[in-house]
Formats: sequence, C-alpha cells, structure tokens
Amino acid sequence: MDWGMKNRLNHLMPNGKCFFMPIDHGYFQGPTTGLERPGDTVRPLLPYVDALFCTRGVLRSAIDAAISKPIVLRVSGGASIIGADLANEEITTSIREVIRVNAAAVGMSIFVGSAYERQSLSNLGKLVNDCEDYGIPVMAVTAVGKELVKREARYLALCCRIAAELGARVVKTYWCGEFEKVVNGCPVPVIMAGGPKCDTQKEVFEFVHDGMQKGAAGINLGRNVWKTPHPVAVAKALRAIVHNNASVKEATEIFKETTEDKTPAGVRQE
Ligand code: 5RP
Repeated sequence: MDWGMKNRLNHLMPNGKCFFMPIDHGYFQGPTTGLERPGDTVRPLLPYVDALFCTRGVLRSAIDAAISKPIVLRVSGGASIIGADLANEEITTSIREVIRVNAAAVGMSIFVGSAYERQSLSNLGKLVNDCEDYGIPVMAVTAVGKELVKREARYLALCCRIAAELGARVVKTYWCGEFEKVVNGCPVPVIMAGGPKCDTQKEVFEFVHDGMQKGAAGINLGRNVWKTPHPVAVAKALRAIVHNNASVKEATEIFKETTEDKTPAGVRQE
C-alpha cells in the first residue's frame, strides 16, 4: 500500500478503529430532522469523532474549512426518497473535486440484488480506479433502500464481500445478528451504520458493543446520535466503546455522567 493511502487510512482509523459521523442523509432525504442545519448539529460532536461523512454541498456551505477532522466525501446520488427507486444512483462527484476539497476518503452506495445492482457495482469499480490513482480510499456503503428487512447476515455478508472484491478499502454495512459472519467473510475493515433511531439508548450501546466484539472496525452512526436528546453524551459513550473497549455498562455510566453534568456549558470540556 502506498504511503498516501496508508496515511489517509491511519488518520481516518487511528489504531484501526473509527467513529465516523455521517451527516450525508440530505442527499436523498432533504432536510432530515436533526440535520436542518448540519454545521450546528455536528459542531459539538466533532471532538468525539474521527471523521465526518458528508456531501460536497454540505461541506462547502456548513463546515468550517479550518476543521482538523478528515472528511469522507459522499460521492453517489441521483435518487430521492420520493422518486421511483432509491437504488438508481450515479457517481455525482469527480475525482478532481474530491482532491479539490481535500477529502481523505470517498463513500458511495451499492445496491446488491436491486434492479440497479450492475450499475452501482460498476460505478464502484470505476470509482476505485480513479481513487486508487491518488491514494484515496473508497468506502462502499451496502445500502438497503427502504427494505430494512435485508439487514441480516447472509445478505450483508454477500454485499460486503462483493464490495471488497471490487476494491473498496472499507465497507460500511448494518449491524445484524451473527455479525461475525459479515466480518469474517470480508477481507477489509467493516464498519456499522446505525439505521433509524432505536427505541432505547441501551439498544444502541448493545449493538455497537456486540459488533465491535465480533470484529467490526468501528461505526458510522448518525441518527442514533444527533436525533437523541443528548447527542454529546451518546457520542462520548460510543467513542469509549469503539476506542477504549468500554462495556455496555461503562458506556451507560459515561452517558449518565455526561447528561448529569451540571457544569455551565461555557466551562465544560466537551
Ligand atoms: C445515509 C448513509 C448514512 O451515512 C448511514 O446510513 C449512517 O447513518 P445512520 O446511522 O443515521 O443510519 O449512508 O445515506
């Protein structure tokens, strides 16, 4: 692996572990609840995450260029939540643009088993060709569109393996039961998305902890952080699970300590 690729991956995944913060949902959902002003949403969370996942539009309009966190640029799109098929995506962002905004990596969705399977997989191959020339890692996102039932080990293992075979350096998928089957069949790091907001906080800590124990390299988890009443406390607790091997009990304690912290906001070290 070339120095540039290694360097980018090390910044994105210190010690091989990562907590990416996705704020890319607007590219097909519009002004998602909690992300109406993405810059404000993400600002207090930045100290706890390793990278931001967003489109070039949000990057330019809402993120301070002085940011020290690496950027994973969402480079696929072209479908919307009210359109005919969420899987009908193309690559929306050129490699010149990726380099121009100083992205550390790019991310795109693949839709295995959909009517647009071939299109999205061939787009992944082309994106990898472009990005490898410049030492930029590609993160493949195993999207399920509206079919949330697809979040099971056999399907996700298939998607992750195909993404890795086509050259993705990292694969983002969903947590599921028997998650070890997904990780064990994939030769590159696998990270977990959160999906729609869970009913309880404990549920989130539990699935993240389970996935990490079963070999995940980290998380790319948005709605279950910034849609909650205490996003900073959740982010702190998740960081402890991902980077410090915290148990669910320890994460819950960190969460409680942070939500109970009565120090005035201006004095707090968040
Ligand atoms: C949406 C994405 C998101 O990055 C991904 O789903 C993670 O976010 P969440 O934890 O909210 O599911 O790819 O297009």
